[in-house]
Amino acid sequence: MSSYSQKISASAFGEDFLWGVAIAAAQNEGAYNHDGKGLSIWDVFSRRNGKIRGNHKPYIACDFYHRYKDDLLLVKALGFKVFRFSISWSRILPEGTGKINKEGTAFYHRVIDECLKLDLIPYVTLYHWDMPLALEKDGGWTSHLLLKWFSHFVTHCAHEYGDKVKNWIILNEPFGFTSLGYMLGKHAPGRKGLSHFLPAIHNAALAQAEGGRIIRQLVPHARIGTTFSCSEVVPFSKKEADVEAAKRVDILLNRLFIEPALGNGYPREDFKFLEKLELYSWKYTKKMHFKFDFIGLQNYFPVVIKYNPIVPMIKAVQVKAANRKVAHTSMGWEINPDSFYRIVKQFWSYEGVKEIIITENGAAFKDKLINGQVHDEQRIDYFRKHLQALLKAKEEGINVTGYFAWTLMDNFEWSEGYKPRFGLIYVDFKTQLRTIKNSGYWFRDFLNGK
Ligand code: FCB
Repeated sequence: MSSYSQKISASAFGEDFLWGVAIAAAQNEGAYNHDGKGLSIWDVFSRRNGKIRGNHKPYIACDFYHRYKDDLLLVKALGFKVFRFSISWSRILPEGTGKINKEGTAFYHRVIDECLKLDLIPYVTLYHWDMPLALEKDGGWTSHLLLKWFSHFVTHCAHEYGDKVKNWIILNEPFGFTSLGYMLGKHAPGRKGLSHFLPAIHNAALAQAEGGRIIRQLVPHARIGTTFSCSEVVPFSKKEADVEAAKRVDILLNRLFIEPALGNGYPREDFKFLEKLELYSWKYTKKMHFKFDFIGLQNYFPVVIKYNPIVPMIKAVQVKAANRKVAHTSMGWEINPDSFYRIVKQFWSYEGVKEIIITENGAAFKDKLINGQVHDEQRIDYFRKHLQALLKAKEEGINVTGYFAWTLMDNFEWSEGYKPRFGLIYVDFKTQLRTIKNSGYWFRDFLNGK
């Protein structure tokens, strides 16, 4: 792969390429109980001892709720064209369904209007992991009513913002929130086991398509996508057991949600887990299908997988980057731009994928603010090499039309609290002071053709 010093120019991606930066409501907004907002699952999950590193809370986060105007000016100053953000369901429907909170609804109008004033294209994510608590109490993603609740929410958003917003993303990483939140208990709402995971998967697969249909119907000229987490899965050795284990992990990490979205139903392979899912899916293949205009891919790292008979069902374990002595971020995630290139190709190989946008990619490092500066050269290196890998994919004919960096500023990184710093902008969470990191300046120069 390319070396650190190699030059790369934004113009090589073409004039229309969508350069963006992404954030999410629960990670940035704060104001968790202001102006009528209802609680979300993250607001209360963070009260459970030991669930979030340092017992951090998302209550204030980056205070984007009050500071959005200044923050959007920063997005503009860094040279981005696209601003991707999510709508907090419980801010506009405090009980998840029923009564609308006018003030919460007005907040997103202000954010959207500000984007348009600054000539930033808003990309709105409808669900980025913050289920209203009121709905979680009635089953959340596992409930047979989920589809009805979600449709109500999406319909409201389409009516409210459809005149101004043309780019819609239905779900953020359905595998992420169903596995971490409903199988492993590591994310909100903290549930564990297949009896939660399987219905959550199925409702998410249905909601992803149904959300698309609602936006298509209500928003003229909408461009509709949804996002998938993805990781190249590499077997630890050539042994058949490792190769088979890697295949099972690939089904979970990469295939589980895109295949039903494309109309193929859940992956059909010899894997006990899928047999169980089949019970939920046999008559729903059509309902899980929607012709998305684009798919959003979110990639951070590859995984290396080894057979392990002790692990129920999947019979596989991950061999961590640190144990393999390869470069990794402060999250322990392997840095491997070649694998980014390969996973983009893997998703492009599906018939039915027409356009790909990288809706998230980025890295956390142990940034230090020293004399008003953050010398995060490792992050610059990460972005440069990943962009070189993406350009290679594009030049080979893959229709990748955009790249959104994760993320604008350091924020609440879910169960890791405020410790991992992913931003192009450093946030001092005591004072809310923002400082553009060197990677932010690097992006600005890169986007300005310098
Ligand atoms: C993704 C999430 C995003 C952020 C990054 C680091 O999986 O979508 O909110 O946490 O990871």
